[in-house]
Amino acid sequence: MNSPVAQRFIERVQDRSIVIGIVGLGYVGIPLALAALRQGIKVIGFDIDQHRVDDLNAGKCAIKHIPMDLIVEGVKNGNFIATTDFDRMAEPDALLIAVPTPLTKHREPDLSYVVKTTEAIGKRLRKEQLVVLESTTYPGTTDEVMRPILEKATGLKSGEEFFLAFSPEREDPGNPDFGTSTIPKVVGGDGADSLAMSVALYSALVVKAVPVSSTATAEAVKLTENIFRAVNIALVNELKQVYAAMGIDVWEVIDAAKTKPFGFMPFYPGPGLGGHCIPIDPFYLTWKAREYDITTRFIELAGQINTQMPYAVVNKLAELVDTQVRKNLSDAKILILGIAYKKNIDDMRESPSLKLIELIEKRGAHVEFHDPYIPVIPPTREHAELTGRKSVSISKDSLAGFDAVLIATDHDDVDYGALVAGSKLVVDTRNACARAGIVATNVFKA
Ligand SMILES: NC(=O)c1ccc[n+]([C@@H]2O[C@H](COP(=O)([O-])OP(=O)(O)OC[C@H]3O[C@@H](n4cnc5c(N)ncnc54)[C@H](O)[C@@H]3O)[C@@H](O)[C@H]2O)c1
Repeated sequence: MNSPVAQRFIERVQDRSIVIGIVGLGYVGIPLALAALRQGIKVIGFDIDQHRVDDLNAGKCAIKHIPMDLIVEGVKNGNFIATTDFDRMAEPDALLIAVPTPLTKHREPDLSYVVKTTEAIGKRLRKEQLVVLESTTYPGTTDEVMRPILEKATGLKSGEEFFLAFSPEREDPGNPDFGTSTIPKVVGGDGADSLAMSVALYSALVVKAVPVSSTATAEAVKLTENIFRAVNIALVNELKQVYAAMGIDVWEVIDAAKTKPFGFMPFYPGPGLGGHCIPIDPFYLTWKAREYDITTRFIELAGQINTQMPYAVVNKLAELVDTQVRKNLSDAKILILGIAYKKNIDDMRESPSLKLIELIEKRGAHVEFHDPYIPVIPPTREHAELTGRKSVSISKDSLAGFDAVLIATDHDDVDYGALVAGSKLVVDTRNACARAGIVATNVFKA
């Protein structure tokens, strides 16, 4: 039985008169805003980045793959506004938080964004508001970190006077088959009312809300999903090397194995892990597990294998430049194709391409890159020295100036036929050429 407050909230979700605040307007926050706007629900977006806020209010977005028509319409009809004015946090009925959760330099969870946001909310929180954390984090964050901050700042009791929940984001940027609205959302609440309110809210925004018994369980679900990916990617990366030594093509093996209708799920090897999630999230659990004197050996091992991949790719590149172009890598000019961490998006956080550039340049080669999605390398934490480097265009003439092309990202809008025809040597870490149906003697997989 829901309390009258929870019941009122649920009815306002159902008649769409509820107002949602989204804190953190990035890869996760903006699609979430779109999911609400699609339902005719009013959204106030909060961010500390004035540029991002101004852009959104002007109907522009730095993230290329996100369509802006609903935001433009929302700004016009008053259903959407982005702001840096956190005093407006008291206006929405629900505040959904999608701020970054990176690792520190020592590879420990960096919850500073979550803590700052929670403190900002704590200053303005009013009775009956629902606060939901969506950022990926370790089990216990909502209960052990956020709840005390909010209760202390407001003197209000979670689960009774305000409501708190965790619902992990499963956004897969650039995925043409699934977007925020069509991906079920797991929800854990601090108490029965928090859960009922969040389930009602997400049932309105996405195809299905999946309730679990606690916020910590919901936090663990997200980590489990990403650890599952990290471990399986490590496995195929290891298999790639074993099979390559045996003259077997791992991609052919996976494509055949995935015809098994049960008990197998395809994962694909690559030049290393990238993105804001898979290289980072597993270590949130590793860190928390230490509190219980437990070592997460599987996760560490997967991390080691995946971290080694760029080194293995560069060794293979050096060997091929030597045997096929008759040059030392130190004298070679290398073009890296793709700097985004995965295809068809403009996100290059933690991209293995940055490590590849670093490793190849360390061996004395001259490196340039081409990426149709990333014209200029933005500042990054780990590779500040690459900031400002520009994508070169590819043509028959420009390709002739390189000794090898290293395919690191398999963007769709690249003419792989022309690339292979114009290159001396192509080293393909993504099986992009074979997928494009190209069979040529100058293409090698790595
Ligand atoms: N990108 C993905 O595909 C993805 C998928 C699933 C989960 N996640 C998780 O979602 C969370 C957000 O990731 P993202 O990719 O959207 O990050 P992002 O960097 O694209 O966006 C975060 C936004 O938060 C803003 N911000 C930072 N501190 C703030 C503060 N104190 N108050 C208000 N705004 C603040 C930033 O300016 C930025 O606009 C992370 O925990 C991430 O692990 C991301």
